[in-house]
Amino acid sequence: MKTAVIILAAGQGKRMRSDLPKPLLPLLGRSLIDWVLEAVAESGVTTTPILVVGHGEAALRAHLEGQDVRFVVQTERLGTGHALQQCLQELDGYDRVLVLSGDVPLVSASTISALVDAPADAVVAGFEADDPAGYGRLLCDSQGGFERIVEHQDADEAILEVTLVNAGLYVFPVAGLAERLAALTNDNAQGEYYITGIPEAVARDGGQVAVVEVMDPIEVSGINTPIQLAGLVEDARFRVLEAHLENGVLIDDPLSTWIEPGTAIAPGARILPHCVIRRNVTIGPRCEVGPFAHLREGTVLEEGAQVGNFMEVKNSTLGPDVRAKHLSYIGDARIGARTNVGAGTVFANYDGQQKHVTDVAEDVFIGSGTVLVAPVTVGARAKTGAGAVVTSQHDVADDDVVVGVPARSLSRLKEGPA
Ligand code: UD1
Ligand code: CA
Repeated sequence: MKTAVIILAAGQGKRMRSDLPKPLLPLLGRSLIDWVLEAVAESGVTTTPILVVGHGEAALRAHLEGQDVRFVVQTERLGTGHALQQCLQELDGYDRVLVLSGDVPLVSASTISALVDAPADAVVAGFEADDPAGYGRLLCDSQGGFERIVEHQDADEAILEVTLVNAGLYVFPVAGLAERLAALTNDNAQGEYYITGIPEAVARDGGQVAVVEVMDPIEVSGINTPIQLAGLVEDARFRVLEAHLENGVLIDDPLSTWIEPGTAIAPGARILPHCVIRRNVTIGPRCEVGPFAHLREGTVLEEGAQVGNFMEVKNSTLGPDVRAKHLSYIGDARIGARTNVGAGTVFANYDGQQKHVTDVAEDVFIGSGTVLVAPVTVGARAKTGAGAVVTSQHDVADDDVVVGVPARSLSRLKEGPA
């Protein structure tokens, strides 16, 4: 059985009231569409996902540049069924199609596998919603067999009472799909072609439609409003924290720790309270971070490095056993082993136009309140005095000691003017 994967992501997401297209909105620092693509990749489904795009197409294409996805453009947004119809020409050679939604971000790899593996002609994922408002209601017969899905807007009082809802994730047979899509009508409250007519048609034609009930509602929560997006942050956060904890990372206070997905932390590293660790950060064994540290993209802490209180680090590599314990900004820097970065040090990496790199070698002592104006290099075992301003391109030699503003070599100052 060859299964194609389609992710519906053309809608505007009107209710988000954001300039960003909904699939690009961040949930714990990772855009909604990336959560879905990650789950697909993890599930072991290997075919190239097809993304239906429309609203915000250019931004989505730019965001996914270089990734293994195919785009299908839905120029007019006439509903989820219409969106699927735009993909028909991509389905040649496939037996079945898995349909996911760009606004259901926390779907797990195991749920995707469960849908794909369910032995039925068509599969609909459902869940018991605490608050079913806004979802399509999943109606089953007395034996629990699938009957149809009724959208909230089309439901009468009795149907609104139903709490089993449609998660918006499906598997359909490709055979007959074109005919079934062509037969959809938009004769409903929203004037849209609903994808939910497909499982209904399969059942009507005598096919078997399985309802896979997802037990964790978080996985299948759709995001239509800013409140729903905010409501998933805690769950996303704990999912990431749990994975690190299981891996042996020590997290003193999970309740105050923000770690974005896509960060590697070695077992035995310790994260103290109130840290923000963004994606693409690597933390080695025996490292200690925080309390109150902000590690931004591209930060690498090698084994035993420590980043302490009120620190911001961005796009920098701190070598083994580096100490940077208080009140500093380190940006675009490489720092050698065992170097000590004194309190209040600033790596001035930005000249107003461009970012520049600072190279600090091993066993250096950077005095408190030093400003290192990039691009600049500090040699091995060198020292800077408290408050020194090392100006750009005035490199500090190995073993030298510099002081003052602008920083000068202490040995030369002692020798007096030449
Ligand atoms: C949909 C389901 C509903 C289900 C809910 C689960 C239909 C008719 N309803 O409702 O039964 O409970 O999801 O979250 O499908 N999209 C397009 N093109 C379009 C319209 C939508 O690509 O023309 C995309 C959207 O970008 C979104 C997804 O399809 O990613 C779902 O569309 P949305 O409008 O959010 O549907 P819901 O009202 O949430
Ligand atoms: Ca939705």
